[in-house]
Formats: sequence, structure tokens, C-alpha cells
Amino acid sequence: MKTKKVLTANLKPGMVSADAAYTFTNHLVIQSNTTLTQEIIDKLKYYAIKSVRVYLPEKEPDNGTAAETTETTETPKTEQSSHENSFTYYDRIRQSESFAAFKDSFTKSVTNFKEQLNDIVLKDSGEVVDDMLHEVESIVSKTRNALHLLDMMQCLRGFDDITYAHSLNVSLICNMIGSWLGLPTKEMRTLILCGLLHDIGKLKIPHDIIAKPGKLTEEEFSMIRSHPKLGYDILRPKSLDNRIKLAALQHHERYDGSGYPKRLTGFELSDFSSIVAIADVYDAMTSNRSYRKGICPFTVIATFEQEKNLYDPSLLYLFMRRTIEAYINTEVLLSNGEHGKVVLLNQNFLSRPVVITDTATYDLSRDFSVNITELI
Ligand SMILES: [Fe+2]
Repeated sequence: MKTKKVLTANLKPGMVSADAAYTFTNHLVIQSNTTLTQEIIDKLKYYAIKSVRVYLPEKEPDNGTAAETTETTETPKTEQSSHENSFTYYDRIRQSESFAAFKDSFTKSVTNFKEQLNDIVLKDSGEVVDDMLHEVESIVSKTRNALHLLDMMQCLRGFDDITYAHSLNVSLICNMIGSWLGLPTKEMRTLILCGLLHDIGKLKIPHDIIAKPGKLTEEEFSMIRSHPKLGYDILRPKSLDNRIKLAALQHHERYDGSGYPKRLTGFELSDFSSIVAIADVYDAMTSNRSYRKGICPFTVIATFEQEKNLYDPSLLYLFMRRTIEAYINTEVLLSNGEHGKVVLLNQNFLSRPVVITDTATYDLSRDFSVNITELI
């Protein structure tokens, strides 16, 4: 889709930003793919942002002012006040057309992926790997951007095939991080495969133990903890990039040396294993049953901030910043019951942005008496 830089004075509600816009102090004001409202345009003016790159409609002439896109009706963020109806942020995503397409594509892929993953254990990897990559690429093509993808994934929880859906999710998150890092296509494909195959060792563990809801016995626990080594043993003889094999072996290692199986520390880990570790934990956190209704991304980021010693710092910061930037201008519920809007991110405390309500401005990085509890 074509884009054009439009002076802020000429922006119109309904235009969709093609790039993010930052203040001169590098605070994010809007994320790319934001549908502009009058309120957002006023904010851009307030922060003296001179121009914004927006998408141009495909059929209309390039006159710099008309820019309605087909995406405006389904963009979940910012343009629709929750006060207008009782739908939550995630309800609106579930009702969008692009979610229906994503769900369809993901469901088909999980079914195919099940077969492919089992095939990899038994056969040579070449063709199967190409098929797997094709599945991931087809899902990614159904989403408008990486952040859109996280919201979609969040709305599609509840698969019983724990290992398969989880591996697919992790590969999609790896794809997202890889695109933020600007990896070339060949590297991206390797990273996606790291995500797809990281838990392959779990196929060697009885399903009842993997899916056991209650507390595990010591023996069961150590069996689960053997899956990185089991996965590595499956992949070792295959003609695959070594980083794919290492990601299976190392994705439970932690940057500070507290992980398993070998208690390796930061610099001993393959870069791709460090990416898979973050993607794996993010998916595990957001798929937690008690959060199925829709986890609050600020809570997830807060957990990462508390556990930051466990992950590669530069990768973790990139992941947190890019993830949370999607929620600028999003309406939220605060722990004191007030409704507000996220207006500025604190770069040093990403889980605690500045929120404005009808009556007050909360800088959550200073005021710890209030939290964001929900997206609305
Ligand atoms: Fe694992």
C-alpha cells in the first residue's frame, strides 16, 4: 500500500499512520497502523509533531487529504471508545474480519503442524521443514503487523494441543522479534524453525504428564525437564542449522545461569536460543488459564521487568518496548476503578505509563498506588 507524508495540520480523522510518531524527546505518541481520531490529531499538534506518514487509499487520487482505508473498521485500538458500547478491547478484536481469517488459518495450521512435527521425528527434515515454514508464512500474511498478531494470538487461546499450538505461537513471536531486528529472510526462516521445533522433545514424554493439571511428582517433573535434551537428540542427526538444534537444547537456560539443563549463562547461549526463551515465556504467561479472558499486557511487561536478569537485556528491552508501544492511546481500567487512556510511555518503566482520566493524570512510574488492571 502506498504511503505519503502529510503535514499534521492536514491530517484527517480516519487516516491510518504508516509509521510511528515520536516527540523530540523520543516518547512515542502513536504507533504505526493507528487510525487517527480528532483527539489523536490534536495530541500530535500538542507535541509539535510536524508530519505523519499515512497510508493512501488504493483507488483514490493522491491529493494528500483523502485517506480512508479498508482497515479502519476493524482496527481495535484507539478509534472506538469503550464508552460507546460494552465490548472490551479483546471482544472488538474477536469480532473483526481479520480475526476470523487469522483463526481459520491458525486452526488449519495447527492440524497440519501436528503431522509435520511427528514426521520430523521419524523422517528426514528437508521437505517437512519447507511445509512448516509455509504454514507460518500463511498465518503471518493474515495479520497486518506484528503487534496485531499478539492481540490475535491472545484471542485464540484454549487449544488442547498444548505443545503444537504453543510451538506455533512461539514461532510467530520469533518471527515478530526477527522482523524488529531486521533479520534477512534466510535468518528469519531459521529463527522461525527454532520456534517451531524448540519443544519437539515433549513428543517423547507421555501426554498425561505434559497435560497434567495438578502438581507433578518429582519423577514427572524431572521427566518434563528432560525435554530440551530429548529435543536436541531428535534434531542432532538432521540436516538443520545448528542454531535450531541449540534452541531446543537451550531455551530453558537463563541469562543469569539459573536455567536448565546446563545452567549456561548469557554469553554461552546462542542468540536464537535467547530469542526463543523470551517468546516461550511470553506465550506461557499469556496462555495461563486464569488470563484466558484477555491478559493485560502491562501485567506481562511488569513480570518481565521483575525478572529482567533472566533474559538477554537488549533483546528483552526491544521486545518489551515494541510490544507495549502498541497500547499507546488504548483505554484502560485502573485499579481505583477509573477509566483512562495511556498517553505516554516511560521508557525506563514500560509497564507503568502515563494515564489520563477525566479528572486526573497518573504517572504510574511515580505513583505506585494505582495500577492498570485491564484493557477496555
Ligand atoms: Fe520447553
